[in-house]
Amino acid sequence: MNAPVFLCRSDELSDGHYREFPVETDDETVFLVATRHRGEPRAWYNVCPHQGRALNFAPDRFITDDNDHLVCCAHGAVFEPDQGRCVSGPCQNAELKAVTIMESDGDISVPPPPPPPRSEQQVDGSEHHDQEDQAHHAADAHEILHLVAARPHDQGVDRMSRQNECV
Ligand code: FES
Repeated sequence: MNAPVFLCRSDELSDGHYREFPVETDDETVFLVATRHRGEPRAWYNVCPHQGRALNFAPDRFITDDNDHLVCCAHGAVFEPDQGRCVSGPCQNAELKAVTIMESDGDISVPPPPPPPRSEQQVDGSEHHDQEDQAHHAADAHEILHLVAARPHDQGVDRMSRQNECV
């Protein structure tokens, strides 16, 4: 299986908007997160370098801040949208693992990705989106939203609401 994997149409990926894409490999389903930065598509494994958890709080639902940075729903690590480097939070300067992303003829695609990276702190055998994990993420996301909302002049909650409406 070496053919590129279609993710979405070009007009379905925009600056400041993060999307989740499940990609089937030979062995498992790999989850990617993709966005655009200054018009250029970017993609990473949807795996936080802090504890190896998914960055989103629900399928295809991500928290962003006022600077189009991606905020991990688990403990609030903040990643810039160019290199996916953590600029704030518990894994500062760590980077999301990038995935090659291609844009051609109005399509966004990726090569078949290998299995995702795993943090040393990640619990073995945990499923990416099992119900318990989802419930935990939802609770964590609620706390993170309070933290983001508490920042002066930060419109993080509004941004999240807008993003949810777009998807
Ligand atoms: S797992 Fe992302 S900040 Fe902890």
